[in-house]
Amino acid sequence: MNNFKFKIFRYIYNKLKHTKLMTKNMECPGNGFLGHIATELMVSFNKSVIKDAVKKLNVKKNNKIIEIGSGNGEALEMLVRSTDKKITSIEISDKFRKKLINKFKNKNIEFFSNDAKNMVDIIVDDTFDKLLAINVIYFLKPLNEYAKEFYRILKFNGYGLLHVNLKVFKILMKKLLQIRISKK
Ligand SMILES: C[S@@+](CC[C@H](N)C(=O)[O-])C[C@H]1O[C@@H](n2cnc3c(N)ncnc32)[C@H](O)[C@@H]1O
Repeated sequence: MNNFKFKIFRYIYNKLKHTKLMTKNMECPGNGFLGHIATELMVSFNKSVIKDAVKKLNVKKNNKIIEIGSGNGEALEMLVRSTDKKITSIEISDKFRKKLINKFKNKNIEFFSNDAKNMVDIIVDDTFDKLLAINVIYFLKPLNEYAKEFYRILKFNGYGLLHVNLKVFKILMKKLLQIRISKK
């Protein structure tokens, strides 16, 4: 995306980021204009973050890996070069999943449309060495239900990396703390 287009999209996003419609499109981009903006911005924002997250995951050739919310597949591109085992990708958005299936046609990756809260129909307990979810946890509500499912599918010594944008995370934590304080 060129600089001008990025600035325009960023401007629109900043104006609409607190609306339900924009949030919905960031969570699961639709086919409309806001879905297009969400997809383009996600790609631009995330390149360096994704590189860093995959590096931190420290993937070994014999690791079984699952990625939750693969989006446009930036992390998958790196993961597929790092392990010899089949990778599992959970992507709830039909739009993203179709693109991923097309992009990784001949690669050792299988794609599922499950909500990551419930993967019992496709994944048995203690399956994965590593789990990766980049910029996804903001959408996982309630988070503890997802955490339980991630715990179930990870091996005993498994490792899960839930990568977040610190700025968004701080806003979330602030909201959480406010809820806790107001409950007292
Ligand atoms: C903000 S995007 C991040 C995409 C990618 N990880 C990245 O960093 O570029 C969030 C992704 O998580 C997916 N997602 C959201 N909720 C999900 C859920 N409950 N289960 C599986 N995927 C989900 C969305 O469809 C979207 O692709």
